[in-house]
Amino acid sequence: MSGNVLNEFCDEFAALCMSDQPEEKKILLGQNSLEQLLQEHSVTGEMLEKVLSNNLVLSSRLFAIDPNDITLYREPAGLFFVRILIWEAGKKYPVHDHGAWGVVGCLLNDIQETKYDRLDDQSVPNYAVLQVRSQAVLKPGETSFVLATDAGIHNMEAVDKLAISIHAYSTPVRKGFIQCYLPEKNRVEKMFPLSKRKQILAARALNSLSQVHANEGYKRILDKLDDEIKREL
Ligand SMILES: [Fe+2]
Repeated sequence: MSGNVLNEFCDEFAALCMSDQPEEKKILLGQNSLEQLLQEHSVTGEMLEKVLSNNLVLSSRLFAIDPNDITLYREPAGLFFVRILIWEAGKKYPVHDHGAWGVVGCLLNDIQETKYDRLDDQSVPNYAVLQVRSQAVLKPGETSFVLATDAGIHNMEAVDKLAISIHAYSTPVRKGFIQCYLPEKNRVEKMFPLSKRKQILAARALNSLSQVHANEGYKRILDKLDDEIKREL
């Protein structure tokens, strides 16, 4: 039964992503579909059981950029993703944006969501000024939405008990990273999947070694890096 509910949701969300309706309409319909999926707790329970019973899953792409994120379904062509996010009680999670619009639904226990406006003109690297636009508590069964990039900067966290949410994100307009914000320090930085983060860190370290020791071998390795990593040196 639970698989059917997930299949139904995925069929509806795929149709939405491919339709030419206005984004606001897609989001509204996506939230309606997600509300049905939220009625079926066993979809999430089954995925959590898989994570606990199969170590192979741990090394797969089921884990995206957010450390508290487990991919429930990935449309084979990358048209959309359905994700479970687990919010531990008392833990702070970063303010961030998304590469796509998406719908968000609370499955278990209350979740506080804070949405932000970005006020600066983005001309200064790693600098951002945010202002709280709204705050709300999502209760089990309730849904919200995010917009792509600057229009969807938000933060979520459990109100008082471990909470679970289900998220479905449409086709990304920006791939490979999200941006995380430290509003109190007016800072913004890119956040990559863990494997990419390690490569970037290694490249930065090798670059520093290369500069200090003028090592031609290191320079040759750095020259061959792909552009995505070179941009982050
Ligand atoms: Fe988010």
